[in-house]
Order: sequence, then structure tokens, then C-alpha cells
Amino acid sequence: MEKYIIMGRNPLSGSVRISGSKNAVLPILAASILAQDGQTIIKDVPRLKDVQVMKEVLEFLGCEIEWSGTTMKVDASKVQSIEVSDFLMRKMRASNLVMGPLLARFGWAKLSYPGGCAIGSRPMDLHLKGLKAMGAKVEEKFGFIEAVAENGSLKGAEICLDFPSVGATENLMMAACLAQGETIISNAAKEPEIADLETFLNKMGAQISGAGTDLIRIKGVEKLIAVEHSIIPDRIEAGTFMVAGAITKGNIKLENIQVSHLEAVIAKLKEMDVKIIKEGKSLRVIGPETLRAVDIKTMPFPGFPTDMQPQMMALLSTAKGTSIISENIFENRFKHVDELRRMGANIKVEGRIAIIKGKDSGGLSGTFVNASDLRAGAALVLAGLAAQDATIVDSIYHIDRGYENFEQKLRVLGAKIIRVRETYKEWEK
Ligand code: UD1
Repeated sequence: MEKYIIMGRNPLSGSVRISGSKNAVLPILAASILAQDGQTIIKDVPRLKDVQVMKEVLEFLGCEIEWSGTTMKVDASKVQSIEVSDFLMRKMRASNLVMGPLLARFGWAKLSYPGGCAIGSRPMDLHLKGLKAMGAKVEEKFGFIEAVAENGSLKGAEICLDFPSVGATENLMMAACLAQGETIISNAAKEPEIADLETFLNKMGAQISGAGTDLIRIKGVEKLIAVEHSIIPDRIEAGTFMVAGAITKGNIKLENIQVSHLEAVIAKLKEMDVKIIKEGKSLRVIGPETLRAVDIKTMPFPGFPTDMQPQMMALLSTAKGTSIISENIFENRFKHVDELRRMGANIKVEGRIAIIKGKDSGGLSGTFVNASDLRAGAALVLAGLAAQDATIVDSIYHIDRGYENFEQKLRVLGAKIIRVRETYKEWEK
């Protein structure tokens, strides 16, 4: 299994470019199924494990795909299968995003049930409730979810989501594109990735308005065509690098930034006394000598993103004073706490609340820690950058799911981080 070895306490400097957004490209790749002919061209596609899995899902369904550098070309004209295997669903939960497009185009979709994951149970009930409202008959049997549209096509419906789920909003938008009549989704998720999906679908010929607000209207159309699209920058990767600058008391420049996607993160970092200067589509981040403790509540966008919670916990462990983090999106997203404690952090968890008694500089020390999921892994790397001596982060395959060239980018900024591969043979030597 591959690991990172990090030698901490180097202030970062220099600049890096932020890659295309993982959470934007996954639904857009799923949406490319909706084009019956032609080649969809997607640019600024990050080279990530999760994107590789979505590519495998699309190929399994019958798409022909070329992926060169950061451009992916998808020809969905030969898609015939409507079933996603258990093997692919287990590799990545976001594989469930093909349900809406398959149902829209073929009137039928069958997916293996996604099941639980490290950060919470993550059911699909909101996706299915919406599809049922659009006339799909849904059966959950033998570990599979099978949805069939009556008479082969879905019908527009008024859907009010019980919670603004990102995946449900995306799946329902894609399903509604080719439905008969108008679909209105209220209490929709407002994340920037949903607005990017709207832009992409409208280029294809869909008639969608309102993405980015809590009310989305979709007028069904007859057909969608293949188009070209560039993916928005990854706001979570950007936030992670902002924390890297702050936690090392560094001075770094991040390029390819969409500031309006990062307001909540920028506000919290400023409250902690991190200096943030906007320079066009770039951001300069300067870490202070002493970070101030703050309280954070994770919320749906435009609130503070749950995907930045672990990284901020690492940062708050090095701040002066006591901070409180309330995790309001996922019920089990504190798996990094025990690992941060191993590094000397003082954190107490009560239900969905974590109380962090910051140790100021000099607090964290390097040791062997294990990444339990993607963002928890990123948080441990960040803690390692601030810790005294060496930190070894194990199970970094989680980090590879969502960060493109993570250690290379950190090294460009002056971090001392290497990837090592250990095998039993190497131990025996
Ligand atoms: C997406 C992001 C993920 C991010 C999350 C919240 C992608 C590929 N992933 O995940 O990185 O952490 O948004 O911002 O974009 N829920 C239900 N029933 C459902 C669907 C969701 O109860 O049918 C609950 C979930 O259990 C969770 C909450 O809603 O507690 C948020 O989930 P959701 O917004 O759907 O997250 P994802 O789309 O899975």
C-alpha cells in the first residue's frame, strides 16, 4: 500500500494551478450519456481515481472514450446496457449519477445499491422519491435498484426535496431533461457544480433555469446533442491548498480560482487571521504567526462545505484558543479525529460536535496515521506539513480519488513530501 512521508515545518511559497472540479466532472460525464450521437468533449478533466471509475462505468455501459491529458472525449451513441454492476457501484458512490440519464434516454436503469460509506449511510431515497414523482416505477430487490419509466419516458413533475441533496438534484435534473413537460425542483441544492451541470446540459439543448438557486425549472426537450465544455475549478482542492498555506505560515499563490465559490472558506480563514488577497483569477494566501480559533458549522452551499471540515480541523488544532466544529451534513465525518489526536491534537467529540483546543505552533508532532477517507486523508497531510519531524500517512489511495498530483503540487510549493510504495518483499530485504 502506498504512503506519504512528510517532513513538517516548511513554510510553503510559490504558486500552483487548481485543477478542474471532481464533483463537477462526475455528473457532467454521466450527463454525456444523454447525447444520442456525436462526441462530447470535456476539458480540464482532473486525472483522478474517481474520474477513472466514472470512465469505467461509462465504458461498461457502451460509451467509447478517449482520455488524453486533461481532455476527455465521450461517444455515447452505442450505449446499450442500462445496468451498472455491483463491482463498479462499490468502487464509487457517485456511479449512481448515471441513473437519471439512463432513465431519461432509455426509460430503464438498473444499479446495484450503493450502500454505506466511511462518512455516513448516504441513502438514495431522495433520488428515488423524485424519480417516482416523474412516473418511474422503482423496485429495490436482490441488492439492485431498478427504475422503469411508464411507456418508456418520464413525465415532468413538481418535486420538493426534503433536504438539498447534491446528488439527488443532479440526478433529477438529468432525468428531467428529456421528460414530457416541465419539472420543478424546489429546495434544490445550490452548489456551483450544479450550476456547471446546468451550463453543460443547456449547451446540449436542454431548457433549464435556476441552477445555483433553490428552485430549478427544467422543460423537457426531444433530443440532446454532443457539445464541448470546460470544467469549473475545484473549490475543495483550492480550499485544501489555502489551508496548506495557512498551516505552514507560508505565502502561496493559487491560480485558476473562482472566488465566488469559496466565500465561506475565505471568510473563516480571514477570521483566523490568514491574509487572503484576490489577484484576478488567483488568490494569495499568507499564513500568520498565530492563528485565531473560530467556530464552524458545515452547511449546504453557500454555507461552509463539509468537504473542507477535516482540513479545517487540522488547521484549528494549530490555532490559539478553543474552536467548535458542528458537522451538519454527514453523521459520521469525524474519523480523522483519532488520527489527529495521535499527532498531539486536543479534540473532544460529542455527537456531531467537535471541540478543538488549539495548541498554537509547536503543538503537532509527526507519527504514523491512517487516512480513512478522501478529505480525512488530506487533513492528515496538512497536519503533517505543520508537525514536528516525520509524519507517515497510510492508505493514501483515498487521497488519489480526489486530488490531482497532490504531492507534486505540494512539492512545487516547497513541501517535503514523498510517496513510498511498500511491499512485503521490500520488508524482507
Ligand atoms: C456530494 C459530493 C460530496 C459532498 C456532498 C455534500 C459529489 C460527487 N459528491 O455528495 O463530495 O460531501 O455532496 O456536499 O458531488 N441524503 C439522503 N438521501 C438521499 C441523498 C442524500 O438522506 O437520497 C443525505 C446524505 O446521507 C447526506 C446528505 O443528504 O447526509 C448530503 O448528501 P448529498 O448532498 O446527496 O451528497 P452527495 O451528492 O452524495
